[in-house]
Amino acid sequence: MKRLIGFGILALGVAFSGSALAADGAAIFKAKCAACHGAEGQGTAMAPAFKGNAFIKESKEDAISAVITAGRDGAAKKYKQFAIGMPKQSLAGDDLHAVIAHLKSLAAK
Ligand code: HEC
Repeated sequence: MKRLIGFGILALGVAFSGSALAADGAAIFKAKCAACHGAEGQGTAMAPAFKGNAFIKESKEDAISAVITAGRDGAAKKYKQFAIGMPKQSLAGDDLHAVIAHLKSLAAK
């Protein structure tokens, strides 16, 4: 019985660390980006769409990650129709890579 419990805890630990390690771009997008960019990346009255977005489709990962991590505001703003700028996001490494992959998949739709 003791061994069984030990195994159960081990299995739980593996399952948990496994899901914590795999960066989930869709989940990050939902939590941090969807409020402004729309749940399906369709855009809102606050921020541009990613669906069919040429910048997302044609840019290298570096250029996209620069906008995400540095933000885009003031004179750098590209879309004058939105009152606010893009607030810089604290994303890095696998999380940043995963969310950009998700943007690319939304842009391709
Ligand atoms: C508070 C609202 C808000 C949130 C939250 C937000 N954004 Fe933005 N984002 C904007 C606005 C507004 C712009 C347009 C800025 C401009 O005028 O250039 C923008 C622009 C962008 C662009 C450039 C798009 C283009 O066509 O040039 C990218 C990429 C981007 N956001 C990614 C993200 C990601 C990824 C997240 C979540 C991690 C996120 N944004 C969260 C408001 C937001």
